[in-house]
Amino acid sequence: MRMISLTPAQGIRACCIIALIITFATASVQNVTNNTTAGADNITNTAAATAAAAAGSASPADIVEDESFITHPSPHYLSNGEISALFGKLQDLFPNLATKYSIGKTLKGRQMYALALTASNKDDRNGDLLRPMIKVTANIHGDEAVGRQMVLFLAQYLTMNYAKVPEVQLLLNTTEIHLLPSCNPDGFALAKEGNCESLPNYIGRTNAAGIDLNRDFPDRLENQQVSQLRSHKRQPETAAIINWVLGKPFVLSANFHGGAIVASYPYDNSIAHHECCEESLTPDDRVFKLMAHTYANNHPIMRKGHNCNDTFTDGITNGANWYELNGGMQDFNYAFSNCFEMTIELSCCKYPTADTLPAEWARNKRSLMQLLKLSHIGVKGLVTDASGYPIADANILVSGIEDKPIRTTKRGEYWRLLTPGIYNVQALAFGYQPSEPKQVHVTNENSEALRLDFVLSPRELNYDGISSFYNNFFYRH
Ligand SMILES: *[C@@H]1O[C@H](CO)[C@@H](O)[C@H](O)[C@H]1NC(C)=O
Ligand SMILES: *[C@@H]1O[C@H](CO)[C@@H](O)[C@H](O)[C@H]1NC(C)=O
Ligand SMILES: *[C@@H]1O[C@H](CO)[C@@H](O)[C@H](O)[C@H]1NC(C)=O
Ligand SMILES: *[C@@H]1O[C@H](CO)[C@@H](O)[C@H](O)[C@H]1NC(C)=O
Ligand SMILES: *[C@@H]1O[C@H](CO)[C@@H](O)[C@H](O)[C@H]1NC(C)=O
Ligand SMILES: *[C@@H]1O[C@H](CO)[C@@H](O)[C@H](O)[C@H]1NC(C)=O
Repeated sequence: MRMISLTPAQGIRACCIIALIITFATASVQNVTNNTTAGADNITNTAAATAAAAAGSASPADIVEDESFITHPSPHYLSNGEISALFGKLQDLFPNLATKYSIGKTLKGRQMYALALTASNKDDRNGDLLRPMIKVTANIHGDEAVGRQMVLFLAQYLTMNYAKVPEVQLLLNTTEIHLLPSCNPDGFALAKEGNCESLPNYIGRTNAAGIDLNRDFPDRLENQQVSQLRSHKRQPETAAIINWVLGKPFVLSANFHGGAIVASYPYDNSIAHHECCEESLTPDDRVFKLMAHTYANNHPIMRKGHNCNDTFTDGITNGANWYELNGGMQDFNYAFSNCFEMTIELSCCKYPTADTLPAEWARNKRSLMQLLKLSHIGVKGLVTDASGYPIADANILVSGIEDKPIRTTKRGEYWRLLTPGIYNVQALAFGYQPSEPKQVHVTNENSEALRLDFVLSPRELNYDGISSFYNNFFYRH
């Protein structure tokens, strides 16, 4: 949970959920479905059906999944050292699926280990072109531990079942999933199993310097002076995550917390800076609600919406409507990168005893799989010049949500998550003439996003700037 224990703000939260009026520009978006629940069910069925078809004869009922990792060894929270060992082992066992790396070091010098999962084709260097990248992170509050272990179960589930479960195979064939089980290994080392609330002085919640890392990110609403001041005091864990988020073209992200059960989506603050009870919505509210509904609807407890003495309709909430927080990781992702991140609170007790972990996995597995598939909604494509050279940093603009342009990667790729509807999409790049708007009908009924490429013409007729500029065309950031 992102707030400490019960405050007056929490107490009144349930009674002041205000009717939402969507005020952002929708004029040029026609016939957009706003029933996110319907959308959530759809992606589910289509992707599962595609996977089953790909498997040939085997129907989902015939498949025996390997989930031995839940009980062997007997359920326990892996220590920081054990995470390193597990990721090393998975990389050794599944060299074509798993890559272990570290995103940086904590204040105490611990590595922040991550695992990248995707089915790589060694013969085709460019085989991952347009494959969307997702991340799942946890434990930014070191004493909120359930999510950390869910990320570790997910790593084992995906690798151990790639060969036998078509759904997993399709997912890893078409997406690249980065797992960061702990954003705060130093905090975790001080937290105590069985503690449902934070220790005095938030030992374990914060990092080794006593800083709440989920308040330490650049904030979209702070002015430049404040921003600079804060950047000088930035914690190493936060700095590592910032570089990671800005350095890889992630499109979708989940970060796990504990102390409540709800899927919370941006923004977490508003210009008015009210303590709570006022929605603060992104231009992409439809996509975020779809993400939140998808997670909550597939979670047997979260979807009920009445947990831990809280009430959240359908088990989802806008962050600022719950309570305001500044400098959070979720808003940073959306405001400063192409990545759509959501915060997911998994359990009332922040650090329950390990015997609860198998049941937690059972509750979260379907939600996780369905959420990961959402990286394939909307449109994706390449932006190139007439000779086929990729154009990096082009802006993809979608009618009605112009306030959130998506930028192309070094390889000219973009992914634009969208809910079903008819949209006009346009590409703009420095030095090039804007493309004509292209109208697309997004249905999200296929296992991958609708392909929509753009070829841009240079502004100057005798433009001659292509040569050294494209050297690292094959490399993704
Ligand atoms: C949008 O819906 C209206 C009425 O519901 C229909 O007449 C129109 O053809 C639709 N437009 C598109 C582009 O589907
Ligand atoms: C969207 O929701 C509003 C209010 O719930 C409803 O009036 C409208 O018909 C819906 N639009 C579509 C396209 O479903
Ligand atoms: C949304 O769609 C679902 C599934 O199609 C349907 O059961 C539900 O009634 C719809 N909700 C609204 C508000 O239209
Ligand atoms: C969901 O997909 C099914 C096909 O799998 C289709 O029949 C149905 O109309 C879709 N529902 C919505 C709300 O788009
Ligand atoms: C995944 O990719 C492999 C290698 O290209 C292919 O043999 C397999 O059929 C794919 N699986 C699915 C479910 O698409
Ligand atoms: C809910 O509130 C009751 C009464 O205040 C308290 O006894 C109980 O521990 C609370 N439950 C949770 C999960 O916080």
